[in-house]
Amino acid sequence: MPIAYHKKENVFKIDTEHTSYLIGLADKPAYVGHIYYGGRIADHDLEYLLRTEENPFVPSKNARDKLLFMDAFPFELPTHGVGDFRGDALRVRTENGTEVLELHYVSHEILQEKPQLKGLPATFGKEAQTLKILTEDKVVGVQAELSYSVFANSDALIRSVRIINRGKKPVYLEKVYSASFDMDDTGFDLITLHGGWARERHITRNPVNYGFQGLSSCRGESSHQHHPFLALAAKGADQTQGEVYGLHFVYSGNFCGSVYKGQFDQLRVMLGIAEENFCWKLEPGEDFQAPEAVLTYTAEGLGGMSRVYHDLYRQHLIRSPYLKKKRPILINNWEATYFDFDEKKLLAIAKEAAKSGIEMLVMDDGWFGSRNDDRSALGDWFVNEKKLKGGLKKLVDGVNALGMKFGIWFEPEMISPDSDLYRAHPDWAIAVPGRRAVMGRDQYVLDLSRKEIRDYVFERVSAILDSANIEYVKWDMNRQLTDLGSYDLPADRQGELSHRYVLAVYELQERLIRRYPKLLLENCSGGGARFDPGMLYYSPQIWCSDDTDAVERLMIQEGTALVYPLSAMGAHVSDCPNHALGRVTPFATRGYVALAGTFGYELDITKIPEADRAMIPKQVAMYHKYHNLVADGDYYRIASYGENHSYDCYMTVKKDRSEALLTYVQVIAQANTKTRKIRLQGLDAAKQYRIKRFNMETGKEEAYSLKGTYHGDTLMQAGILIDKTWGDFQGMLLHIVAV
Ligand code: DGJ
Repeated sequence: MPIAYHKKENVFKIDTEHTSYLIGLADKPAYVGHIYYGGRIADHDLEYLLRTEENPFVPSKNARDKLLFMDAFPFELPTHGVGDFRGDALRVRTENGTEVLELHYVSHEILQEKPQLKGLPATFGKEAQTLKILTEDKVVGVQAELSYSVFANSDALIRSVRIINRGKKPVYLEKVYSASFDMDDTGFDLITLHGGWARERHITRNPVNYGFQGLSSCRGESSHQHHPFLALAAKGADQTQGEVYGLHFVYSGNFCGSVYKGQFDQLRVMLGIAEENFCWKLEPGEDFQAPEAVLTYTAEGLGGMSRVYHDLYRQHLIRSPYLKKKRPILINNWEATYFDFDEKKLLAIAKEAAKSGIEMLVMDDGWFGSRNDDRSALGDWFVNEKKLKGGLKKLVDGVNALGMKFGIWFEPEMISPDSDLYRAHPDWAIAVPGRRAVMGRDQYVLDLSRKEIRDYVFERVSAILDSANIEYVKWDMNRQLTDLGSYDLPADRQGELSHRYVLAVYELQERLIRRYPKLLLENCSGGGARFDPGMLYYSPQIWCSDDTDAVERLMIQEGTALVYPLSAMGAHVSDCPNHALGRVTPFATRGYVALAGTFGYELDITKIPEADRAMIPKQVAMYHKYHNLVADGDYYRIASYGENHSYDCYMTVKKDRSEALLTYVQVIAQANTKTRKIRLQGLDAAKQYRIKRFNMETGKEEAYSLKGTYHGDTLMQAGILIDKTWGDFQGMLLHIVAV
């Protein structure tokens, strides 16, 4: 049994194949404390690690120094106001204005399942167990139910918390984090993903120091700037070895993740909904479910952590039937035409694309209302028949007649002040009554906490989807939330708006995928500002970034792949000079880099150079040949351009180790160098492999300079030699197949 309660020691032990997580009950009434998280250990009694047999002992033995106990005990869910000064995970304000809360163990149960969370994205799957520990503050009448789940085939641990008001008066939740645990600091670095628009998820690593370090978003979405993920990596841990702890939040709104190093050199790691812009009123009898946090531990370095997350998300989070299906190679007209298109232009693009083997045309922003730039019409989800003469169905039928699928763009959460919708319903925008709200990209955000607004949005989106054979939706979101005020919520519930907004987005996307179960949904937020596990529950792929430059994408995709399977990363080949930064890279290299994601095009195929157009069928062949290896394989990071400023290299390896694909990009060439030696990873040491190189000019594999067969252990220990290439930005794809 992966989860067991050891009665004699009062210890809960949660095991996965390679990890153990131990929780202990100390004193009477009992506090719930964190004993251990790390490599798998046997079922010995380990409660001594709670340090309750040393000064200051537990409060029942030393009431005089309870404060010292409270400030040192490793609480599983630290609360506010009773002497734990290392950061609280739960803060509750009562009607009398106080915020003091002390939780004691009440009961526990072990379920033979992984329950779903109402209204929230959540990991799912059979062969799972869940431990629920109920705790309570009797004075306030508030209970906290701590939940821990594991799946038989994963080393991840899923945590969440539910708060229940058992009292007679309302309480206000001011802070509810989903996960917190303490551990001794044996020397860790904090790894996070930071960025900005068109620079999402760049990896940063810094030593953990005394005090608080962390990251957050209070932008109403998970954001371009910070990602709801943090890892603690032991000093010296690298891609292949070393202890790494990961925490990732299955949520798409405001979050806060932090590490606190205290006076006894202990760390407290926490993750949850940000307390800023959050206050949730709980009436007697009501409960509040916090989102899930996914914890991982591995001794196999960052690569080991990545593979645990990738497998968990592919097996237990992404629900779309497209997870296991080949995604149609799409061509999106955004960078091709921006707003300047009509049905003729789109059909011309589709016609040329179909000839090259591209399988779907996606019509991006600008097809509705009076929208000819980004200043108007969001909310007016009616086809602009001045632009699309003959209407949407005619266009879609035309595209279908070419043998291609059709996809469409929406930004359902928004409203332009210059729109019929806003003129009819100015109160539908999120704003504080009496204040002019801050404009972002000339638009406001719809108050989706109101049901009638959600219903309007859903009715309009489905009317469009019902009007033609539309098989893909890109759901965009292009501004952050400000001016938090809802015309509908009472004063004591205005603090709920940010979270209600996220719940509303989830509800709308759930309705969408239920009504259109075959629809391929791609989430997007001004590029990758809402690339998070919450969104993956609804869409199997998310647009990674508005930066489509192959070189910058290497770093964005490396950071994204630290936690996400490559099958989730929206990646396209675009035209040069690149629209985000003006760089010119070879068309072939743009193809190699986009292959590490969902693969598609974002260019005007009728206008690109002939040589590039001629290469598209070869890239299409490449995608069909290697797609499965990329989407379903194990990911190994060999070298990082972000670290070495020279070259990038990664592999995907088939689960049975019979085949691997290596992508190498020489970003900056150097004169007078030897061939570069690269040590492969993930192969079967005992198998023998042959290496072929994919030639983008012919679309076929050809012999590589290493012509023999080589043992897996040789390739992994001694490595292979990378043929020299001439010039900057040169890519190479090697197919390594067991013989
Ligand atoms: C931002 C997206 O990231 C782009 O791909 C494009 O869809 C634009 N929005 C359209 O406004």
